[in-house]
Amino acid sequence: MSTILEVKNLTKIYEAGFVRKRRIVAVDNVSFDVKEGEVISLVGESGSGKTTTAKMILRLLPPTSGVIKFNGKDIWRAIRSKEELKMYWRNVHAVFQDPYASYNPVYTIDRVLNQALELIGIDPSSNEGRKLIREALSYVGLVPEDVLGKYPHQLSGGQRQRIMIARCWLLKPKLIIADEPVSMIDASMRGAIIKLFIDLREDYRTSTIFITHDMGLAYYVSDRIFVMYKGKIVDMGPPDELLKNPKHEYTKRLLESVPTLYRKWTWE
Ligand SMILES: Nc1ncnc2c1ncn2[C@@H]1O[C@H](COP(=O)(O)OP(=O)(O)OP(=O)(O)O)[C@@H](O)[C@H]1O
Ligand SMILES: [Mg+2]
Repeated sequence: MSTILEVKNLTKIYEAGFVRKRRIVAVDNVSFDVKEGEVISLVGESGSGKTTTAKMILRLLPPTSGVIKFNGKDIWRAIRSKEELKMYWRNVHAVFQDPYASYNPVYTIDRVLNQALELIGIDPSSNEGRKLIREALSYVGLVPEDVLGKYPHQLSGGQRQRIMIARCWLLKPKLIIADEPVSMIDASMRGAIIKLFIDLREDYRTSTIFITHDMGLAYYVSDRIFVMYKGKIVDMGPPDELLKNPKHEYTKRLLESVPTLYRKWTWE
């Protein structure tokens, strides 16, 4: 399997405070990689540096030091123009905790999906465009009449998440970065949404970075888990190996909650 993303010695230091500057080492010498078609999880408690890591990979926040390579290219050096950045965001796509925050509230759902079509060079008003939108909605289990013509606030949290995944289906990114993608959704709906991510991987060999504080979820969906603690990766491995042989005390504590959570994530 080829490596799609390589993160090497990534560090982010924030300067905070006005009067007396404080340095916060949010991400501390982090290295990991993601293979084609692989699902990895970054698991860690609040403030452990997960979102900061995601933002640097998404090229939204410059690292203090370290290298991020996508398909062998250093993204902070190789991407120079707006066009290249647009192309990068087509390949590396973010799904956030509450997609409501990432929707423009005055755009209808049609417009959100049409934009995705435009990005891949398809006219939304063409027959092909309309067919693709129907297919995308059906892929994520939505009925067009339930969502088209509506504004984001008129949808449920689960429906908004599904639209985000429908966008992914249209854009077919190589890598999805899903930051707490189901934490705002009703427990009963979570399994179905997670399954959509897994389907994307099965159907299109999409790689995914799941970001969560929920070890049960990470255990269930990941090929490999990376445990973050205070900005560092303190443990890593395939879920069962990690369960058998956790190195860090923090990992042990997280894993204690897995047996019950494991049942929670069963959707069949
Ligand atoms: N813009 C910023 N300026 C200063 N400090 C920041 C900034 N953003 C994040 N931090 C700090 O960096 C650390 C890591 O934050 P980050 O958001 O990456 O954590 P996280 O693992 O995503 O947490 P959560 O699970 O709560 O989302 C925290 O101590 C946070 O307070
Ligand atoms: Mg976060």
